[in-house]
Amino acid sequence: MRTILIVGNWKMNKTASEAAAFVHEIVHRLPASPAVEYVIAPPFTALESVRAALGSSSAIHLGAQNLYWEDRGAYTGEISAPMLKDLGCRYVILGHSERRTLFGEQDDGIQKKLRAALAHELNPILCIGESFSQRKDGKTEEVLQKQLHGALAGLSLHSVAAITVAYEPVWAIGTGTAATTDQAVSAHRAIRTFLAETWSATIAESSRILYGGSVTPQNIDTLLQSDQIDGALIGGACLQADSFVTIANVAQSIGVKR
Ligand code: PGA
Repeated sequence: MRTILIVGNWKMNKTASEAAAFVHEIVHRLPASPAVEYVIAPPFTALESVRAALGSSSAIHLGAQNLYWEDRGAYTGEISAPMLKDLGCRYVILGHSERRTLFGEQDDGIQKKLRAALAHELNPILCIGESFSQRKDGKTEEVLQKQLHGALAGLSLHSVAAITVAYEPVWAIGTGTAATTDQAVSAHRAIRTFLAETWSATIAESSRILYGGSVTPQNIDTLLQSDQIDGALIGGACLQADSFVTIANVAQSIGVKR
């Protein structure tokens, strides 16, 4: 049984005080049950205020959007895994396509970040996904396998078991055009097959695979109808309280039936 995971990736949005106000608005409106897990990943500067606003009893976990692989040192502008852990982070998003395309992140660096996260007991959410032209050229599976191999090669079974994969087709992120459920399901199947062949069938079965890219309150229901889709990584639609709460309610009603 894989618990549904709903992750709000706020990207570079909301100041610390805006973030706290948002959390105060939603925290008592979210349906809380073990059927769904929620994560909010605000900018680094709002982690502390989100943690304070969530309080200790919240069903929402704190996540970060990135980290640097060294624990400390002369790395101006970077943030380490122990720093995030100390702020109460439980999850960290790694290898997001915006980091890959805008900031030049490559698979080998993403692997170092994954290892640093795991060493400090942060749960990595590894983002992978093909571009529009790669899909058009029939290369989707090849790209997904290459990104998985690049980020995960050499990791132990135990480490891979702690990782959540987010399938985020680049052409769907922030465009308003989500993948269809069929497209997402076939990518998720390919990811599971790769995990089974490279690690084990048990890992493939127990690993959560999220879908991300233009998820909205309107399409979350259709996406979660497939039990191949274990949740969602959501950008734009998580920035408004009402839409976040609607998505949470849909996830909850599907989660309790799984
Ligand atoms: P979006 O972003 O929901 O705004 O498309 C998703 C993401 O980048 O994780």
